[in-house]
Amino acid sequence: MVNKKVLITGGCGFIGSHVVRLFVNKYPQYNIFNLDALTYSGNLENLVDIENASNYTFLKNDINDADSINHLFKSYKFDSVIHLAAESHVDRSISDPLQFAKTNILGTINLLDSFKKHAQGENRLFYHISTDEVYGTLGETGLFNETTSYDPHSPYSASKASSDHFVRAYGDTYGLPIVISNCSNNYGPNQFPEKLIPLFINNIINRKSLPVYGDGNYTRDWLYVVDHAKAIDLIFHKADRGQTYNIGGFNEWKNIDLVNLLCDLMDERLGREKGESRALITYVKDRPGHDLRYAIDASKINKDLNWTPSLQFEEGLGKTIDWYLNNADWLDNITSGEYQTYYSKQYEN
Ligand code: NAD
Ligand code: DAU
Repeated sequence: MVNKKVLITGGCGFIGSHVVRLFVNKYPQYNIFNLDALTYSGNLENLVDIENASNYTFLKNDINDADSINHLFKSYKFDSVIHLAAESHVDRSISDPLQFAKTNILGTINLLDSFKKHAQGENRLFYHISTDEVYGTLGETGLFNETTSYDPHSPYSASKASSDHFVRAYGDTYGLPIVISNCSNNYGPNQFPEKLIPLFINNIINRKSLPVYGDGNYTRDWLYVVDHAKAIDLIFHKADRGQTYNIGGFNEWKNIDLVNLLCDLMDERLGREKGESRALITYVKDRPGHDLRYAIDASKINKDLNWTPSLQFEEGLGKTIDWYLNNADWLDNITSGEYQTYYSKQYEN
């Protein structure tokens, strides 16, 4: 049985926590190391169910701290990396682009350097988790595929595009075994309530207004986070070195249609009159540089690795709402303190 030493970065965040849980539970013979700096979006509470597993180790570290990262590579002898640690929120990248360059670009280069110096053995792999936002925006038709040119518009997507380029450059220049996947919008349990779906769930619970940017006719392709984690598992184990895979939900929604559906599902669950939550919708100033539409052609991963999303959107959205309603403490802990400062800066000025 193969025994891998897998370093997962950003494992206390939204997607990372689902990836860590899947790997710890599915591969008891592997040693799984979760390296996370616990920034505002990293939360140890996301992994309480597996924190004592014998094949799991948490390492509180910053990917920008080169000495510590080198030391950890030498001590634990990681053979593979699944790199998710990042600044992930587009609105925050508009107010603080430099932080996105530091974490997403320099932090990724730092990890690549340590991997290049220390990772050994034929199982070596550096797997970078990226986004469909690197491709820029689509018009009313068309899909992003793996050969679509990069055309990022936000500081966030520019930083992720740059990190993708560095990962490929390390593969080409130093012969490192790398893979990259670019995924569409994730939703599900444990997502920080700054992103559209958990923000609006929290606001509906608290009868606060629902700030829809611009005219609400922007389109995103939504994928349940556990389906993304399953795709990452398949790519990690089966993809040929040097490959790129696009991952998406075959599930496009205009923001305003999604918000209306969310309002109706929430009214049912909260025992409110139909229409009560829709009345909270408020159209606000648009996000600068807002991409009109993202949509993924996921036929390559479907064909090569037999991956397909397992959940229909209404079912996944229902599960997500139920998780937030059943985890009020998780939400309360996060939305007190610093979150209030962010919220008023972003939405009240
Ligand atoms: P998140 O913000 O929920 O989690 C990010 C995690 O990275 C947090 O645990 C945080 O503490 C950690 N982190 C941040 N800076 C760090 C640093 N300097 N050192 C160590 N750890 C640090 O993000 P997410 O939504 O889970 O996204 C994870 C990855 O997936 C990101 O790379 C993102 O670009 C990518 N992605 C996200 C989506 C999505 O819809 N959320 C879609 C496609 C790709
Ligand atoms: O496409 C993948 C990307 O999806 C990931 O790489 C990012 O990490 C992730 O944050 C997400 O980016 P988006 O910008 O698409 O997600 P967000 O939830 O911020 O916004 C979704 C849509 O909803 C977008 O069109 C903007 C709109 N929106 C968002 C917020 C927070 C609003 O109308 N109002 C809001 O308050």
